[in-house]
Amino acid sequence: MSLLIHHIKELIFTQEKPKAFYAGSEMSKIPSLKNAFLYIEKDKIIDYGNMEKLPSAYTNASQQIDASNRLVFPSYCDSHTHLVYPSSRELEYVDKIKGLSYEEIAKRGGGILNSAKKMAETDEAKLFDDALERLEGIIRYGTGAVEIKSGYGLDTENELKMLRVIKRLQAHSPLTIKATFLGAHAVPQKYKSNPSGYVDIVINEMIPQVAAADLADFIDVFCDNGFFSVEDTDRILNAGMKYGLRAKIHANELAFSGGIEVGVKYNALSVDHLEYTGDKEIELLKNTETMPTILPGAAFFLNMPYAPVRKMLDAGLPIALASDYNPGSSPSGNMQLIQAMGSILYRMTPDEGIFATTINSAYAMGLSDTHGSITRGKKANVFLTKPMSGIEYMPYSYGDNKVETAILNGIIVH
Ligand code: NIG
Ligand code: FE
Repeated sequence: MSLLIHHIKELIFTQEKPKAFYAGSEMSKIPSLKNAFLYIEKDKIIDYGNMEKLPSAYTNASQQIDASNRLVFPSYCDSHTHLVYPSSRELEYVDKIKGLSYEEIAKRGGGILNSAKKMAETDEAKLFDDALERLEGIIRYGTGAVEIKSGYGLDTENELKMLRVIKRLQAHSPLTIKATFLGAHAVPQKYKSNPSGYVDIVINEMIPQVAAADLADFIDVFCDNGFFSVEDTDRILNAGMKYGLRAKIHANELAFSGGIEVGVKYNALSVDHLEYTGDKEIELLKNTETMPTILPGAAFFLNMPYAPVRKMLDAGLPIALASDYNPGSSPSGNMQLIQAMGSILYRMTPDEGIFATTINSAYAMGLSDTHGSITRGKKANVFLTKPMSGIEYMPYSYGDNKVETAILNGIIVH
């Protein structure tokens, strides 16, 4: 199978030797090529260049697309989701509108615990079918790689169940999928008066079984007020590390929780949310391998303070953006909307928004060698836009789906 996309108005984020991620002022200009071609064989990008230099051999490609007036982007990489879940939670959302906070809802047995109760009653087949439908939805919006977390099981049986569903999704979906074990998402009701008893179960029962069945790439902890303490997080990440599970953690969403600090201590691949980030946290993150990841959907939906992204970028930090797709705090996996929020709510330029939703978010799930830019030898995950003037239109037109054609593994899937 070969595919030639020709007369591309602008091919976005061409990079011969891309870096693993881009930080600060490196994110100010996205490299691109006007009047370009992109040539794909099987599931790989083989070549790209200017139309005037199109090798004649490529015109024999078995499939050809005329991309006149259209831009071609590397597919979005969404490095933080909880998209395997039993059901939506719109009733809680109404409580939220009436003024209850995320923590108050959680205290009343709502929130994550509500999903955990339903998880125990839902079988693997239904979880799989519903999640596959959500994956099809995000493909239509331009996503090509996604991380999915467990964390609505909150007991060994149901955490393993969720991770098995993610494994089946990996085999069935054209998306590249990474799995994260998030046993420490909330303390179950049963352990309310003995949270460290639950942490013991996570460490002594869940982690060894998850690792033995090779069900996860990463380990996550919700390190925040009312959830897991820095000490709990430290213990869990330490245990995960022994099984080769690198950390990607929920940090500083509800308070200055110490989450960023413990994440950096364990060389986490990413620390995510970061609404509560001050000068101290910015200093801690400098010159580390930990990707600061912002989840604009959650801050927007929960009406939370916004992370100081402009300040972080100006201090030279990298930023990744992800959707946090989940039933409680961000019921959407639309990365075009996330990129637009990056611009509207966090003052990121269109160029910065592209770096943050492609290569940097690929890095945040260990995929930047193969995904996140138009590079020879990388996975042929790209999308064609509808006719448009230039990259600025992507965050500007925040309510529309601008993806016309999605190509994953070199195959047109939408
Ligand atoms: O990333 N912050 C913790 N966990 C999720 C929310 C999950 C839920 O409410 O179901 C988040 O926002
Ligand atoms: Fe999350």
